[in-house]
Amino acid sequence: VSAAEWQKLLPGIWFFDPAFMATAACDSAITYLDGEAGILRYRGYPIEELAERSTYLEVAYLLLHGELPTAEQFEQWKHDITYHTFIHENVRKRFLEGFHYDAHPMGMLVSAVAALSTFYLDAKDIFNLESRNKQIIRLIAKMPTLAAAAHRFSVGMPFVYPDNSLDYCANFLSMMWKVAEPRYEAHPTLVRALDILFMLHADHEQNCSTTAMRVVGSSHADPYSACAAACAALYGPRHGGANEAVIRMLTQIGSMENVPAFVESVKQGHGRLQGFGHRVYKNYDPRAKIIKRTADEVFAVTGKNPLLDIALKLEEIALADEYFVSRKLYPNVDFYSGLIYQAMGFPLEMFPVLFAIPRTSGWLAHWVEMLDQDSKIARPRQIYSGAEKRDYVPMDQRS
Ligand code: ACO
Repeated sequence: VSAAEWQKLLPGIWFFDPAFMATAACDSAITYLDGEAGILRYRGYPIEELAERSTYLEVAYLLLHGELPTAEQFEQWKHDITYHTFIHENVRKRFLEGFHYDAHPMGMLVSAVAALSTFYLDAKDIFNLESRNKQIIRLIAKMPTLAAAAHRFSVGMPFVYPDNSLDYCANFLSMMWKVAEPRYEAHPTLVRALDILFMLHADHEQNCSTTAMRVVGSSHADPYSACAAACAALYGPRHGGANEAVIRMLTQIGSMENVPAFVESVKQGHGRLQGFGHRVYKNYDPRAKIIKRTADEVFAVTGKNPLLDIALKLEEIALADEYFVSRKLYPNVDFYSGLIYQAMGFPLEMFPVLFAIPRTSGWLAHWVEMLDQDSKIARPRQIYSGAEKRDYVPMDQRS
């Protein structure tokens, strides 16, 4: 029974569910998640199989179109995305370079994505399919360019234009790290690792940022504005900031010998094990298993992240401890992703940005689905708990 039908059956009956813990806000055919069994599928395809055999751009197509592309469809898709990687010079020169010299790259990204809506006047035309698809392609194509530009500005390095002879992830790494001509070619293992991480982060059903995307999108705002809202949700430490918190926690622990004492302090209520636990997963996060394998491949190229041994010890102790077992607290996707990003040279501030780039395809898939469902504007009610009716008191009579 839909919510609208409930309203007819039981007028005046509402459900009080402040953090939407027991509310299905929509029906969706994009991502299947079984938190008890640790299962994640995009459009029916297990995440393990996609991570093994697919690429991020193919997964983005799958999320948006519901089917894996044929060779011809994929070539066109890749061509269209590559064609749109450049950003308007004013976005960079006047907008991004207008930020304070030490601006946080995620703050810059939130604002820059919102600003894009003013550069594409057809963005408002969300029920024209041609225009809608163009905005989708623009957003997926430009996110890495904006992300790299934000990073380079925040460390005082000059902007690097996209190299469209490179694939999506290789192009992003080139924009991030290139220092001299003729071109920057990242190690293929690192390119593939980033591609895998992007696939793992592409969608996760109705998480906080996707909900923000759907809620803002339900007002029929343009996709850039809705995506900016989703980015803003991801900026929060409880969502996109968890892998940064993991690195800070491992650094604070400092050595393997300190792990048992740290775990005890968490059990005593002093903080949480960052990268552990999940609202939906009450089992090992399937993405964490894949990431662990990817980490080994990356460290073979970059050298081992010195924090890895602490992370492994922490996992070993926690998984054997009744406190964590009884609460079904397992490592989540963020427990190892930060270690990989750090080994690849990304500063901590870039971690939420690295999450936003691939999640853009998931956000857009949900936005399209929501528009196609002709959904009503998201407008929850509340339980009012304020004052009863009062009479106005003139200022000179207030105590
Ligand atoms: N370390 C220690 N104890 C924990 C942890 C943790 N990481 N997570 C939950 N618990 C405990 C709580 O203290 C609580 O114990 P209690 O029943 O004795 O009070 C119990 O487990 C349930 O915790 P809740 O907060 O009710 O669980 P919720 O589903 O609301 O929280 C969350 C999920 C926010 C992810 C939580 O597990 C957490 O804070 N984890 C650490 C941060 C993190 O890794 N976030 C990334 C999530 S993945 C993502 O966003 C991509």
